[in-house]
Amino acid sequence: MTVNILIVGAGAVGAFYGSRLAVAPNTEVSVICRSNYKAVSEAGFSVTSPKYGSYTFAPHRTFANPREAIESKISWDYVLVSTKALPDVSDDSEILEGLLDTRRTSIVLVQNGLGVEDPYTSRFPGVTILSAVTIVSAAQTEPGVIKHNRWTRISVGPYLPGTTEESTTKSHQQAINSNQTFVELLRAGGIADADAYSHSKLQMVRWHKIAINASMNPSAVLSSGTTNQAMSSDPELFRHLQGVMEEVLSTAPKVLGTPLPSEFATPEAILNSTKKNNSGSKPSMLLDWEQGKRMELEVILGNPIRIARAHGLEMPRLQSLYALLRMAQQNRDSAKGESSRL
Ligand SMILES: NC(=O)c1ccc[n+]([C@@H]2O[C@H](COP(=O)([O-])OP(=O)(O)OC[C@H]3O[C@@H](n4cnc5c(N)ncnc54)[C@H](OP(=O)(O)O)[C@@H]3O)[C@@H](O)[C@H]2O)c1
Repeated sequence: MTVNILIVGAGAVGAFYGSRLAVAPNTEVSVICRSNYKAVSEAGFSVTSPKYGSYTFAPHRTFANPREAIESKISWDYVLVSTKALPDVSDDSEILEGLLDTRRTSIVLVQNGLGVEDPYTSRFPGVTILSAVTIVSAAQTEPGVIKHNRWTRISVGPYLPGTTEESTTKSHQQAINSNQTFVELLRAGGIADADAYSHSKLQMVRWHKIAINASMNPSAVLSSGTTNQAMSSDPELFRHLQGVMEEVLSTAPKVLGTPLPSEFATPEAILNSTKKNNSGSKPSMLLDWEQGKRMELEVILGNPIRIARAHGLEMPRLQSLYALLRMAQQNRDSAKGESSRL
């Protein structure tokens, strides 16, 4: 039977994973495009990758907007959301209105940050949600052109808050099965390091990724455009980044009630490996800042701080980064507003 997959947010991450899912047997992968619609509807996505070579990903259907996807009357098995998570700008769960077959569809969120699931659980109670964290490095360099740089790791878990491993109901089991099938599709598409996790372990993976994003991303902007490698090679910044990571990783077990798995890389190991990575890569927040775009500040900094506070915990290093960068963004946007009014 055909597995119907819809990508919402067909940029770097969405198009890359879409292109891999499309080569798994019996899948049909469609996309909702926005600014890249013309390029993709004419020629598909052109993907280059050090691992998979150069190839064209021609989606089964390319939609210009969600309405066209609804009108197609396709019953989706998976709707993969990989927009930038910007809850302060838009509630992207709205895009999925009218697209879901509640008994069949699983929503797969491939986004950085904490609390990205909340808008979807509120809007679509009862719909299966799979939460995914990836450490891929990819970019859409021009409309429809996807450059996969390195890494493919993606960790996926059913989002089942408030449940324990023992309290598995029929709908929980469905979510676990759907999660396993999705991971198998990724593996069949050549993503060998796609892994299925439980709800609680996936949330720990999210916190671990946050430790990296919440330290590197804002620091790159606040240090006036420093790359990850340059930051981790500077002794004072090394201490700062390590301090932020340790703060996040010591808070996570207190919030989640489970210890940090021993196999997770330590801050020191992450920074020492970043020191050796001389690709000159910039964190996404820095790229967004340089392009005058809104940054994923709320899901990477604001939500972790608020979640910790709800547990009576403060993360002062993270709070300082958040307060400074949020105001910098606000000042930049009001200056932009003023100059566009001139
Ligand atoms: N890139 C990476 O290497 C990487 C690695 C790990 C995690 N992540 C995370 O993955 C997520 C996606 O990042 P990304 O780098 O793939 O971002 P991206 O390249 O900017 O892609 C996002 C896509 O979503 C589209 N989009 C946004 N709102 C839409 C809407 N209402 N309707 C239709 N399309 C819409 C954008 O269209 P427009 O171009 O028209 O705005 C764009 O094509 C983020 O949470 C990011 O932090 C990225």
